[in-house]
Amino acid sequence: MDHYAVFGNPIKHSRSPQIHALFAKQTDQELIYTAELVEIGHFDEAVTGFIENNGKGLNITVPFKEDAWRLADRHSERAKRAGAVNTLKLEEDGSLYGDTTDGTGLVNDLVLNHHVPIKDKNVLIIGAGGAVRGVLQAILQQQPASLLVANRTAEKAVQLSHDFSDLGNISGCGLDEINDRRFDIVINGTSASLQGDLPPIPETVFDEHACSYDMMYADQATVFMRWSKDNGAAQVFDGLGMLVEQAAEAFYIWRGIRPETLSVIGQIRDSL
Ligand code: ATR
Repeated sequence: MDHYAVFGNPIKHSRSPQIHALFAKQTDQELIYTAELVEIGHFDEAVTGFIENNGKGLNITVPFKEDAWRLADRHSERAKRAGAVNTLKLEEDGSLYGDTTDGTGLVNDLVLNHHVPIKDKNVLIIGAGGAVRGVLQAILQQQPASLLVANRTAEKAVQLSHDFSDLGNISGCGLDEINDRRFDIVINGTSASLQGDLPPIPETVFDEHACSYDMMYADQATVFMRWSKDNGAAQVFDGLGMLVEQAAEAFYIWRGIRPETLSVIGQIRDSL
């Protein structure tokens, strides 16, 4: 049977096996999908061993997304922009194709699942690490009126905005330079929620009817989601839908079939 897996370290809490099992069942695809703990420094040999054992495709998570980029023989345009790969596909000729599905996952969740259009909206994204880099192209393709990247370390946000400036109206600044600007969509792309921290941003960022989105998820609202609600966001979402949507895009790359996602998001939510 075709074998797929997610490689990461740590990997114990990965929801990907559950998500892909639901996709496979729903679409009648015969495959197995497992979560594999890979030792740091042993990524390449883990991939080789996986392929020798009928491995056809991989999801790659922290901290191997740059290793996956290096190992891929060919990259999608969006993976080139992201500088990282979260999906590897074994091609017929034995070569490895690298893609990244996080940006599509975020945009599909916002626009299709939550009915929050990005076109002509003013968008703020907080953070300037790999997670944010991975979604900027997809957001800009939706043609927002403006996209501001704000980060604790201002220089990283400014650099990121320069790297994507050919794709739309994007700028970068420090968290302390947001001032009294207001936004229609505010996305938290920092890892702060993981530690239960809140990035220090002004309480005035939410415009009327604004949507707040945390790229993290948990079994309860994150501190950023609670803060958003308290400070006037009309709609507040976590990143569980993004997780399922990026998985659906990977499934499509491997199998050529697009699973229905809303029921899967519901089932994963119930199991948190
Ligand atoms: P990832 O791959 O998840 O993006 P990363 O590349 O380490 O991880 O980036 C983490 C991001 O979260 C950075 O933008 C970081 O800000 P700095 O660049 O200033 O370090 C941001 N971050 C992490 N903890 C934070 C906190 N407590 N408050 C604000 N920003 C935080």
